Amino acid sequence: STTRTPQDGLDETKPTDTQLEETDMPVDMTMLPPRPKLFDFHGVSMINYFTDNWENIQNFKARPDDILIATYPKAGTTWVSCILDLLYFSLTQRERQTSSPIHERVPFLEIQIPTFTTGTDLADSLETSPRLIKTHLPVQFVPKSFWEQNCRVVYVARNAKDNAVSYFHFDRMNFAHPEPGDWSSFLQRFMDGQMVFGSWFNHVTGWWERRQTHPKLHYMFFEDIVEDTGREIERLCSFLGLTSTALEKEQVRDLTQFDNMKNDHMANYSTVEVMDFNISPFMRKGKVGDWKNHFTVAQNEQFDEDYDNKMKNTTLQFRTQV
Ligand code: PPS
Repeated sequence: STTRTPQDGLDETKPTDTQLEETDMPVDMTMLPPRPKLFDFHGVSMINYFTDNWENIQNFKARPDDILIATYPKAGTTWVSCILDLLYFSLTQRERQTSSPIHERVPFLEIQIPTFTTGTDLADSLETSPRLIKTHLPVQFVPKSFWEQNCRVVYVARNAKDNAVSYFHFDRMNFAHPEPGDWSSFLQRFMDGQMVFGSWFNHVTGWWERRQTHPKLHYMFFEDIVEDTGREIERLCSFLGLTSTALEKEQVRDLTQFDNMKNDHMANYSTVEVMDFNISPFMRKGKVGDWKNHFTVAQNEQFDEDYDNKMKNTTLQFRTQV
């Protein structure tokens, strides 16, 4: 069937209480297909789950009020998705946040995993206005309709070091991604752009440059949201033209604090069967600076040198601590 969604059939095996016990998440690995292989796709490393539906992705019809949430994987997509979903719909559709997982409320445009509804079909079936749509595509792959319709885009970027650490733990637990190998080989491949969705460097700078030709692009930083979530919600509201009250904004900030999202089964991806939270939870740490617990001194020096070289022609600046 093509109408299954990732949470179907999982309720018997996954806890339904609000408190998440990581040891309660049995995943039978023998039931899963082998991990996908990375391949070059128009100059970007990809896996088939994000290219199999390519024609429908490229022909996707955006609407002028669609909001595209674009990120390199592990930069804060889910956090900003929950913030936007609450800002738009918490007053009018309160049950939405408690009954529907975030990946259904905010479809992942390019995903096509056998037996699950494709991201494009899910987006087409959304009845909300606006529609919130998630993508990890590098800017040059975004369906042209989003530009033609002059849609608002929220891009979230995260410093390379924490982004790499988060991606490493994600690839360990997500069986729909290639094997990460050990940390040092993973880090080397991160520097080389051998990751699903390609090079972090090309992704963040490509989207940064797009602001020149697409003014309706709000470029945010994970570090800023950690530092002052309220301020970033304020900025989002002004970009989106929302007139939420101070109380509403405060509620959104509280509901999207790390611990609240970690314990929220509709936000923490515990309903997705390809992820093994015993290896690493989706809501892992939510911090700036966890890279210091992973990088050796030598890795850090090598990374900094490579980073300076790759980032020398951009005005884009990141913080690796707040
Ligand atoms: S994905 O798979 O690309 O959609 O992942 P994404 O949501 O972009 O990134 C996951 C990381 O974001 C952290 N996260 C948060 N941090 C702080 N506060 C909140 N509310 C929050 N929600 C998600 C999540 O923990 C992942 O980061 P790490 O460093 O691995 O903890």
